[in-house]
Amino acid sequence: MKQFSTTYIFIFAAALCLACSTMISVTAVSLRERQETNQVLDRKKSVLLATRIIEANESVTAQRVEELFSDIHSVVIDLETGEVDEDYNADEYDFATTPKISAPSNQAQIQQIPLKAQVFQVLDGDEIEMLVLPIYGQGLWSTMYGFLALDSDTRTVRGITYYEHGETPGLGGEVDNPRWKNRWPGRKVFDEDWEPHIQVIKGQAGPPDEDPHRVDGLSGATITARGVSHMINFWLDEHGFGPYLENFREEQGSV
Ligand SMILES: Cc1cc2nc3c(=O)[nH]c(=O)nc-3n(C[C@H](O)[C@H](O)[C@H](O)COP(=O)(O)O)c2cc1C
Repeated sequence: MKQFSTTYIFIFAAALCLACSTMISVTAVSLRERQETNQVLDRKKSVLLATRIIEANESVTAQRVEELFSDIHSVVIDLETGEVDEDYNADEYDFATTPKISAPSNQAQIQQIPLKAQVFQVLDGDEIEMLVLPIYGQGLWSTMYGFLALDSDTRTVRGITYYEHGETPGLGGEVDNPRWKNRWPGRKVFDEDWEPHIQVIKGQAGPPDEDPHRVDGLSGATITARGVSHMINFWLDEHGFGPYLENFREEQGSV
């Protein structure tokens, strides 16, 4: 058998590493744009799922998502004042890079909140029919990211969805189960004094008209369920979308 010198083996190994890393880098760079496009599309699909304009098991093409999204107007708001920032191009909003501040101590274990947040307004002609709010907070193992769709009365849930979490499949991961998400429409997230008031309980809640502020629990996943309650109550309160929703109600003349 032919013997290779040590130098040859080193040079061969180095050349092989270089060739492989070049191939991987080229592939990663050439796919980046497609990945970003798919991510934006996926986020739009999640917004549509929260509104229940599309159903969980419905297969929709990218073109259909874009068509349906033409009735959804995205705005960027200043969380502290609740004012819409008209100068901000909402299509360019990126949660990852937007400036953030430390959150006040909260049960949802949210560490940081953005100064500006994106809100989706679902239009029916000239009227705003629904608002879709991004929400996040701690479950048992992970930060869970989702969307909450509210009726234009800002109190009634139209739907909820989670698009990113690291909870256990079959336990906390059931936050993404359409059957559980179906328990949400019609629930009320604010009480009569406009204080956030929604709780995922242990066990079964009654129907929305009899038990408006409570939602069925997730069996074997009380900690994840508690995280869902805490995050919604946080995002609807003064440090979250509270000021925006209050302004919105005033503008709509519904208070
Ligand atoms: C492997 C493993 C994974 C678990 N995953 C979750 C989870 O994702 N979410 C959760 O709340 N509880 C999870 N639990 C259960 C929690 O440790 C805890 O027992 C539970 O939240 C209490 O809820 P229960 O009173 O409904 O049983 C997990 C437990 C084990 C052993």
